[in-house]
Amino acid sequence: MDNFKFHNPVKIIFGKDTIREIGSEIHSHDISKVLILMGSGSVKKNGVYEQVIDSLEKYGIDFIEQWGVTPNPVLSHAEETLEIARSEKVQAILAVGGGSVIDEAKAIAAGYYAPDIWSIFEKTYKPTNALPLFTVLTISATASEINSFGVLTNDTENKKWSFGSKYSYPKVSIIDPSVQKFLPINQTINGGVDTLSHIMEFYFMGENEESTLAINEALMRTVIKSIDELVADPLNYDWRANLAWCSSLALQGITGVSMGGGEFACHRIEHAISALHPTVAHAEGLSIVFPAWIEYVNSLKPHIFERWAKNVWEADSVEAGIEKMKEKFKFWGAPVSLSEFNIEADEFEGIAENALLIGEVGKIKELNKQDIINILNIAQ
Ligand code: NZQ
Ligand code: ZN
Repeated sequence: MDNFKFHNPVKIIFGKDTIREIGSEIHSHDISKVLILMGSGSVKKNGVYEQVIDSLEKYGIDFIEQWGVTPNPVLSHAEETLEIARSEKVQAILAVGGGSVIDEAKAIAAGYYAPDIWSIFEKTYKPTNALPLFTVLTISATASEINSFGVLTNDTENKKWSFGSKYSYPKVSIIDPSVQKFLPINQTINGGVDTLSHIMEFYFMGENEESTLAINEALMRTVIKSIDELVADPLNYDWRANLAWCSSLALQGITGVSMGGGEFACHRIEHAISALHPTVAHAEGLSIVFPAWIEYVNSLKPHIFERWAKNVWEADSVEAGIEKMKEKFKFWGAPVSLSEFNIEADEFEGIAENALLIGEVGKIKELNKQDIINILNIAQ
């Protein structure tokens, strides 16, 4: 195994009826005024909003509300919210929602001390501080509740970029899987596919790190089983809880131990797709790109892809593993081809150029523009 550093400072409070603990957690950090950031309103329908407000009021925490974070959150909304946070002199951000809300909250929290938000994503400014961030998670997918990464789309330049900073870990994240039971089933599947993708991004970098590879295989199998169970019975709390915990574990450090920082070519290609087509959900782009990328690169590292096919999909070849994964995605209702979104071949060059804007894409194979176009052709 390669040398590694492991550090994750996020306090997780997990389980049924835990949301009402948010007030006391914020209070214990000597914070008396927060900006609550939310999406388009699902938290009012599922009771999360009411529990959060009750808890803040109980502990005398003043708050202002900001709504309107979109899936694939955008820079313009983050900038507008940052102005409010500054003028209202809030002491912390409380993100109540999914990865999109938490990611935008991270951008605002770090942007509070930066010359402007986008410079953090362009890496021309390195954060030196951030407002404290607290989260109440409502959809398990990205692991943003337990990591230091944020993803935002610059909506004037069509760039979906990410940043990571040691100042951007949430202080406390509350995960109550029971509030996910009324998620539309496609959102549950999106969460599972994103989780699976995060694990694969690390797994394929492996060689002989048996502990990390074995953990990742167990997680992948559990994610697949959890989605199968939830497709059959969306109200099953135990499978909700298992999927939620797998999601958090998938991108908080453990799955990447000694994995060279992960591969992440599929994420980079997907971010380019959803930057240009914001109606494509992150996980929808991933379920289309991942099988095609595996098909394109597996011969460069056959042993790890054969191990994945055998230990995750009970398949005796990589090709059979890819086929089983695609069949499973189709069974769940996840998309497996770009044509399902009417994304045609004449757009592939633009997507490839967009993915390459930040720099190199891919480690197992460094992908040039033509490679990305070839992968998109396979995914057509
Ligand atoms: O807007 P609201 O009303 O909150 O509705 C949301 C949204 O429409 C809805 N939803 C959330 N919880 C719900 C619910 N509906 C009913 N009941 C509930 N309990 O679900 C929709 C999707 O929410 P969103 O936050 O967009 O989903 P997700 O958590 O998948 O986040 C996706 C974003 O995260 C980025 C993605 O690129 C994408 O922009 N990522 C962030 C990462 C990170 N920070 O580490 C890594 C990932 O790879 C990813 O790139
Ligand atoms: Zn992802």
